[in-house]
Amino acid sequence: MAYERESIQRMSGYVPGKQPASPTTVKLNTNENPYAPSPAVMRALHGIEPDSLRRYPEPMSLAFRELAAQTHGVGANEIVAVNGGDELLRLAITTFVEPGRPIGMLEPSYSLYPVLAQIHNSPIIGVAAGQGFGVPEDFAARMNQAGVALTFLVNPHAPSGLLTSKAAIAKIARELNSVLLVDEAYVDFVDPERAHDLLPLLREHDNILFLRTMSKGYSLAGLRFGYGMGCASLIAPLLEKTRDSYNVDVVAQRLAQAAMADRGYAQDTWRRVREERTRVRAALLALGCLVPESQSNFLLAQVPGDKSAPQALAALEAGGILVRYFPAPRLDTALRITIGSPEQNDKLLSLLGVILR
Ligand SMILES: Cc1ncc(COP(=O)(O)O)c(C=O)c1O
Repeated sequence: MAYERESIQRMSGYVPGKQPASPTTVKLNTNENPYAPSPAVMRALHGIEPDSLRRYPEPMSLAFRELAAQTHGVGANEIVAVNGGDELLRLAITTFVEPGRPIGMLEPSYSLYPVLAQIHNSPIIGVAAGQGFGVPEDFAARMNQAGVALTFLVNPHAPSGLLTSKAAIAKIARELNSVLLVDEAYVDFVDPERAHDLLPLLREHDNILFLRTMSKGYSLAGLRFGYGMGCASLIAPLLEKTRDSYNVDVVAQRLAQAAMADRGYAQDTWRRVREERTRVRAALLALGCLVPESQSNFLLAQVPGDKSAPQALAALEAGGILVRYFPAPRLDTALRITIGSPEQNDKLLSLLGVILR
């Protein structure tokens, strides 16, 4: 006897990246930061007293929100803390999408979006990305036409790393007559020379919701902590109504706060990742892979020659290196490779060189 809702029976779940079989595996498949979190985070962890575990956490994550507000130049009432960015995606759906109303997204993008839409029994309005994975000019018009209640747009784009400009995002927010969730999971890795900062848009558009995560930029994927930012009226229902009462545990709140307070440490890891991104891309190009320029902490490499992407994936895995493969249109000839430490990247490049020779 199956007790699930029909829509749950019909769908497949999200497929997470593989976990390594051995501690020596080079794990370049889930876009983790290759560097350890700040020592201040580890000190905060060791400083957790038994009594703070005995009690419920502060329900609104106020201390973190105040610090993040200061950091980003917004108000604490414009921030909601969540149990990983993924929770914000789910919360946005719960809050803004009447069950059965469509959810919009660029295709391809983060493979969790369609899964969450299916859980909600919402039709998916997928608009194909342009050449080079850009957002088509008529993106917002098509979403409006389809009557979407919420649109997901990841920027920098995953899995290509392409950055869409502030002007283009502002135009989409202006044209859309529903909520635009701009998923900035990877924004920390954008070149500082680009002076890319979309946050002022939350003052100009009452329908724009930003997703941030501590998983990538702050090396805390194991912790599960993220946050959303938007104008106070957009954030209020998430903060006061749809969120679980204690959605972020006490350890996560304290450690996320310690990490953000030591942002300089994190920024140094972003710089190191950017330097390696340039080097690894050049090496992949030299191996004959087509690799779009990425503003993220990963590269999407088209596998050249007579090897298929699944063959290259399997050969890398046999050599102790995990990368990500998506069996989906436009992605099934490529591998998505997380930027690792210089040593990890060297191992990847040398084995890939052998595989593609
Ligand atoms: C595009 C994108 N958005 C959001 C997330 C969510 O990150 P987390 O739930 O770890 O904060 C991820 C994680 O891989 C991602 O790739």
